[in-house]
Amino acid sequence: MQELPKFITLEGGDGAGKSTQIQMLKSYFEKQKIPCLFTKEPGGSVGADEIRQILINGQLNKWDAVSETLLFYASRRAHLVDTIWPALKAGKWVVSDRFADSTLAYQVYGRQSKLITKEQVADLYHLVAGDFKPDLTIILDIDPQVGLNRVSRRGQADRFEASALAFHERLREGFKEIAAAEPERCVVINADNPPEMLHREIVRLIEDRFS
Ligand code: TYD
Repeated sequence: MQELPKFITLEGGDGAGKSTQIQMLKSYFEKQKIPCLFTKEPGGSVGADEIRQILINGQLNKWDAVSETLLFYASRRAHLVDTIWPALKAGKWVVSDRFADSTLAYQVYGRQSKLITKEQVADLYHLVAGDFKPDLTIILDIDPQVGLNRVSRRGQADRFEASALAFHERLREGFKEIAAAEPERCVVINADNPPEMLHREIVRLIEDRFS
């Protein structure tokens, strides 16, 4: 693996199996003895975790798309400043379970609000992160009905998981459009395959790109 640490993000709709993949990837990094930090959005630092609590709990429509987007970005800024940037500076690879693409997919494509555009979210990204971006983004793509069935077997859904199927279908299209717009950063993989197979695919992607 290259000396310079990389920033990798995993994205996808609810029930795509990200958490399992993150766990498997963490074991892989540990086995390879690669210094790394695994983190998660919303949250990932003390300040960001506080914002997470209000973001994922409560009524589905407690904020409009603008307030919700600003809260995700406030939490992201704290995550970057307090966790991600210091870890990279200390030579650690950082793997984040969700990052900025989730805001575009959920708050813009998913909510379909007329109040906020992709361009405005791009400006917000620039304010919060400057030119910094993930070196690789892996998007787990799943049929939303399959994803939601998995979520419902897990029990209580959070605010976003409780949204209608149509919302999750828009999310899927959103992630695909994001990937098409930045093919050098994003790779979409079929999350309907068994976890072991997905893990091998993800490791191969990382090794091919950074070895
Ligand atoms: P979480 O419990 O972390 O679930 P997951 O394992 O799916 O990541 O819940 C986070 C929820 O917040 C998830 O449904 C996606 C949503 N979300 C957004 O709507 N916008 C964002 O920018 C981020 C990071 C997450």
